[in-house]
Amino acid sequence: MSRPTDPAQPGFDARRFKAMERAGFNRIAARYAEGAHLRAELAEALLEAAALAPGQRVLDLASGPGLLAGQAALRVAPGGSVLATDIAEGMLAEGARRCGEHADAPCFAAADAEQLCLADASMDRVLAGLALFIFPHPERALAEMHRVLMPGGRVALSVWGVRESVPLIHRAQDTIARLLPPPKVSRPSVFRYGEAEVLSATLAAAGFDDIDIRPCTFSCHFADAEAYWQAFLDLAGGAAEALGRLPEPIQADLRAAVADDLADHRCDDGRGGFLVPALTLVASARRPG
Ligand SMILES: C[S@@+](CC[C@H](N)C(=O)[O-])C[C@H]1O[C@@H](n2cnc3c(N)ncnc32)[C@H](O)[C@@H]1O
Repeated sequence: MSRPTDPAQPGFDARRFKAMERAGFNRIAARYAEGAHLRAELAEALLEAAALAPGQRVLDLASGPGLLAGQAALRVAPGGSVLATDIAEGMLAEGARRCGEHADAPCFAAADAEQLCLADASMDRVLAGLALFIFPHPERALAEMHRVLMPGGRVALSVWGVRESVPLIHRAQDTIARLLPPPKVSRPSVFRYGEAEVLSATLAAAGFDDIDIRPCTFSCHFADAEAYWQAFLDLAGGAAEALGRLPEPIQADLRAAVADDLADHRCDDGRGGFLVPALTLVASARRPG
C-alpha cells in the first residue's frame, strides 16, 4: 500500500492553493454543470452508496453546482433537507439557479470543507463527490465530516482511481507535462486516494467504520481532441485557472497537442472521435454510534 502524497511539501501554501481552486471553480461553474452528464453513472453510484431515505438531513460537501444535492433532495423528501456547501460562490450560485426555489430544493451556503460552521451531530448523511483529494488537509475535512454526522450516520464519497486508470485526467496532464516546464511547487496529486487500501485506511484513521469501497468505471465520448481538452478544463478548477492565465498561443499549442496523447483512445464503434475511460472509487463509511 502506497501512502497518499503529503501536500505539506516545501513551498506548498495551503491558503494560496485554496484561493487558486476557488478562482478556478468560479471560472468554470456554468460549464462544470453542463459537463456533469458525462459523470452521471458516478453520481448515481455515490447516491446509491449513501442509502438515502425520506426525512434525512444531508450535507453535500464541496457540492459544486449541487448536482448530487439536487438528486439527494428528491430522495430525502418528504421531511428531509439538503445543505450544499462549497468554497466557490460561483458554483453555489449556479446550483441555486439550477435547483430553483421549490420547497424541497437544497439550500446553498459557502463553507470551507476543512472548517464547517455546522453543529456537531447535525447530519444523517454527508456526500463528497470528487473532492477529498482537492483539500490541502483532507484529514481536517474528514474530521469535520465525522463531527457533523450523527452517531450511526454515514459518509459517501468518490475519488479518482490510480493515475493509469484515469486517462480522462492523466492524458491532459501528460500533454501539460510535455509542453510546459514543471511547476515550481507541485500540487497534491488528485490520484492520491486511488488505491482502495489507502482510502480505507484514511477513513479508518478519521474514526469511521463499516467501510465499503467499490470501483465505478465510466467512459466519456468526445467528438474530437479539442472537446476532450475543453472537458478537462471544465472539470479541473485549479488547472483551468493556471492554464487560463497563460498567453493564448501557449493555450492553443496545448489544445492542439493533446490529440497525440489521446491516440490510444480512438473510438471504433462508428461514432468517431475518442472514448476516454476513468476509474473511480465510491466509498461509504459510518460514524460509529
Ligand atoms: C471536482 S468538483 C466536485 C463537485 C461535486 N461534488 C461533484 O460531485 O460534481 C470539486 C469542488 O470542490 C470545491 N472545493 C475545493 N476546495 C474546497 C474546500 N476547501 N472547501 C469546500 N469546497 C472546496 C470546488 O469549488 C469544487 O466545486
